[in-house]
Amino acid sequence: MKLALEDRAIHAIQSDCLVIGFTEGGAMTPSARHIDAVSGGTIGRLLESRDIQTAIGKTQFLHGLPGLAASRVLVVGFGKQDKLDLPRFDRACLAAGRALRDHPLGSCHVCLHELEFGATEPGQRLRQAALAIHRANYLYTVTKPLKEDSPVPLAAATFQGGASLQSALDQAAGFALGYEKARMLGDLPPNICNPAYLAQEAAAIAGQFARVELEVLEEEAMAGLGMDALLGVSRGSANRARLIVLTYSGGPPDQRPVVLVGKGITFDSGGLSLKSGENMMQMKYDMCGAAGVLGAFVACARMQLALNLVCVVAAAENMPDGDAYRPGDVITSMSGKTIEVLNTDAEGRLVLCDALTYSERFRPDVIIDVATLTGACVIALGHHASGLISNDDRLAAELLAAGDSVVDRAWRLPLWEEYQTQLDSPFADMKNVGGMPAGVLTAGCFLSRFAEEQRWAHLDVAGSAWKWGSDEGATGRPVGLLTQFLVNRAG
Ligand code: BES
Ligand code: MN
Ligand code: ZN
Repeated sequence: MKLALEDRAIHAIQSDCLVIGFTEGGAMTPSARHIDAVSGGTIGRLLESRDIQTAIGKTQFLHGLPGLAASRVLVVGFGKQDKLDLPRFDRACLAAGRALRDHPLGSCHVCLHELEFGATEPGQRLRQAALAIHRANYLYTVTKPLKEDSPVPLAAATFQGGASLQSALDQAAGFALGYEKARMLGDLPPNICNPAYLAQEAAAIAGQFARVELEVLEEEAMAGLGMDALLGVSRGSANRARLIVLTYSGGPPDQRPVVLVGKGITFDSGGLSLKSGENMMQMKYDMCGAAGVLGAFVACARMQLALNLVCVVAAAENMPDGDAYRPGDVITSMSGKTIEVLNTDAEGRLVLCDALTYSERFRPDVIIDVATLTGACVIALGHHASGLISNDDRLAAELLAAGDSVVDRAWRLPLWEEYQTQLDSPFADMKNVGGMPAGVLTAGCFLSRFAEEQRWAHLDVAGSAWKWGSDEGATGRPVGLLTQFLVNRAG
């Protein structure tokens, strides 16, 4: 979807649909006032009669308004003016975007960012609105093509405004590309999106953007490095594992990079600790951590941010087999630390621990891993927040603030040493499971042992990376949070 600015007078804009926002108790925006004026007070009358509904997320198409070159107007409710904040703004913009996607329209012209609230700047509102419209326009079509008579997603959208908003719109386009990449990868079925496919995808990214290099390690190379934790997970699968390393050099050569590490389990059956049918159904999404870091990487490369970035994806499939790793096995990770595998379904931390150790060679400034790591995180935080665990208060604060400012929020959870004892094992340096209490935290504790010398953070996106239920699908999170974090660092 193409995004562009357009600053002609609103009545003269030839579009299939003007998109205007309203709040309850707030003043009309400039565009709403303009439409009201050229249409002989129609907008004011419709508000008066409550035919324009201002409840948050309400959308209605108005036809035949006099004085407009555009053929219709989509009016969008943003709820009570004094309650309007960035998350509510985002929610209503997403609703507008869905209405636009599902309607047979060729073009639209959006004015939603004219709504003022809190301490927001026009550029920030424009960026959020454009990103929301773009995200809502997404439709998965790889294995289910559009029917001939169904409305096609929008090919382009324009936004009210001039040159002063261009950089905000360019950012929206960068973020949007990242979200789209992550969602597409997340939604692909596991018989298509396997470790080799993720490596191919990385090769395509390396071919597409400047300053990007790719290295892919096959199982032999990983064995040479002693990555027996990662390889143990992969052993039961006919699909061979890959360690995918993308490097983006946008900063000075001596500047330490940000390293993003993604869990890329392209299907998690649980292995010999087999999941139930119910719990296995959505496990194609178990590579959404990888999809998220690849999405943020694409966004960064597209915006050509001034920093160095490394993206490490641990790609493998967790399957049961005669050769699969077993509960009770003791394996030695690349770090030399030994792990008693008590549950082969706690595989994410095993592939990540070797990827974290491998990442030390890049001398990271900070290292952030992203993973659909625990069902316990979904119990704790539901679908609205990603779980954040970190050994560095400043890094944690930067990540939380980045998420807040683009409505891709995380919530910090404790990394207290008291929880570490749940991983004690009589047979190895640690167990790979910490029992029922605080499963999201003991998973974080496990990972922290492989990043002791690093400024490290972990994002558990088990609840946020995809939606369940009627509008099931990958969300692209935490591409927004990560990309904003990178934008802030690049300055
Ligand atoms: N990929 C799952 C975590 C998961 C479960 C994400 C449900 C989203 C929804 C992970 O590999 C896993 O199976 N974790 C186990 C860990 C347990 C065995 C300690 C879990 O959460 O049950
Ligand atoms: Mn698992
Ligand atoms: Zn998993």
